[in-house]
Parts: sequence; C-alpha cells; structure tokens
Amino acid sequence: MFPAAGLGTRFLPATKAQPKEMLPLVDKPIIQYGVEEALDSGIDNIIIITGRGKNSIEDHFDVSFELERMLEEKGKTDLLAVVREVSDMIHVSYVRQKEALGLGHAVLAAETMVGDEPFAVLLADDVIDAPVPVVRQMLDVYEATGASVVAVEKIPGDAISSYGVVRRAEGAQTFEPQQFLGPAFRISDLVEKPRLEDAPSDLAVVGRYLLTPAIFKHLRRVGRGAGGEIQLTDAMRTLAREEPVYAFQFQGRRHDTGDKLGFLQATVELALQREDLGAAFRQYLHGLRL
Ligand code: G1P
Repeated sequence: MFPAAGLGTRFLPATKAQPKEMLPLVDKPIIQYGVEEALDSGIDNIIIITGRGKNSIEDHFDVSFELERMLEEKGKTDLLAVVREVSDMIHVSYVRQKEALGLGHAVLAAETMVGDEPFAVLLADDVIDAPVPVVRQMLDVYEATGASVVAVEKIPGDAISSYGVVRRAEGAQTFEPQQFLGPAFRISDLVEKPRLEDAPSDLAVVGRYLLTPAIFKHLRRVGRGAGGEIQLTDAMRTLAREEPVYAFQFQGRRHDTGDKLGFLQATVELALQREDLGAAFRQYLHGLRL
C-alpha cells in the first residue's frame, strides 16, 4: 500500500502541479523505487492511495499506447523496453483519499481492498538503498513472529521530533542480526512527533510497516492526533497493547527524498551507482572546486 495523496508542501513550487511522488531521482520517479522494492520483496498486489492532482501516477504505471507506437516505428527498442517494463511491472489498484486527513486516514481508505490479510505500507518518500529489499527483510521478522513490524532507524537529537518514535517493551528479548539482517525487539508504545525531551527512545519509525489487519479497528477508533491528523502511529500504539508489535533496525541506507537536502543527496548517490552515468558524474564532481 502506497499512501500518495499528500500535498507535498515541502517541495513547492515543484509540486504545485505535479505529485511529489513523480519527481525524478536520476531518471525514475520516486514512487517507482518503492514499487520496485515491494515487487523485489515478493509482493505482487499494489494499492496506491491517491488524491486530487495525482493522475500522472496512474498514467505512469499504465500502458502508453501512443508513446510505444512511436518508439516502435522509430526502432528505439531500448527505450521501448524501458517504457514497457514500467507498465508490465505491476497489478495495481487505486483508491482515492478524498481529504488529506493524515496517514492513518489514508490507510483506512484502502481497508476494503486489503480485506482480512496482513499487508505492507510503504511511504515512497523514504527511498532505501539496501542489499536486500527492506520489505523482504521485514517479512523475515513477520514470518518468525507473526506480529506487525515497523522499520526504525537511530535519529540523533532534535530531528527525532519529525518522526514516530518507539518505546522498547520492558524485558523484551532482542532478536540479534544472526537471526535477521538487523536487530528486532518487541515495543510497548509509539509516540508521533514527540519533543526531544519526551521521546521514548532515539529510534524513529521510517516509512515501512508490515501490519496485521487488526490495525483497521484501531484506525477507526483513533481520534485526530499530532498536526490534527489521523495518525497511523496512534493506531499502532493501541494495537501494541493488544498484540505484539516489533521494531526492526533494517540494513540499508535511507534517503528522505521529501526533504530538499535528502532529495539532492539521494540524487547524487544513486547517480554515482549507475553503470551508464556513474563514472562521468564522479569525474564531474571531482572537478568542482568545493
Ligand atoms: C510519517 C509518520 C511518522 C514516520 C515518518 C517516516 O510522518 O507519521 O511516524 O516517522 O512518516 O517518514 P510524515 O513524514 O508523513 O510527517
């Protein structure tokens, strides 16, 4: 499930007339990185939660008949393959979130499409470069525990106030990295965007969740929280009182591409890794007098 109905105010004016999920990192829209991660993790049903002004996301994952015909006629087979790969990629359904009332509200909008099954939520802003796709890493934890799993990362200092933050359950056993790719442990609470002095730990939730369908009941009950929004974190907090919820410190490098600096860093790092661009780009960067 990809909540993508947000207004993208952090990236104005670029996001005035186009979804933030469609901003390109090198040459692929941000959301495609997340979709590829889900597919590489073995998930093949994708739900994208959209809102007004998000039609280009649907067009991107759809067949582009005119473009394909033009590329075919001109014999541009490489580009044709690139374009077809995107539309062949997924079985995708769309749900419309009519009002931007928060992440919890977005997830609830997709309830009937999910049904009574565990599911993953990926926030496309968080692009994670990892040796094993992060959702796949989390599925290993889910398969061993049968519990909801949330990805966390150490965030030092004041920046913690931009995240959901977990509290480790008292006496919780830690599954060490021999068992999974990173440590995992049971949590007893989560707090959305706490002040530094109120934060229950320095472990922040990043945009990857595996949730049991019990979450929907909690989402229906939870009132508006931080920022006046219906928060997924608040629903997980009451879920954690009812059934086990695990935090998992994944292996990988996360880029917050919803932030301008994070976006630039991701662009540079991903471009440097590219076979077709990396060497020339590295040479260019070396030549800059910084
Ligand atoms: C959302 C969640 C927050 C989480 C963050 C990760 O916040 O509400 O708990 O830590 O994503 O990126 P947002 O960034 O939408 O404010």
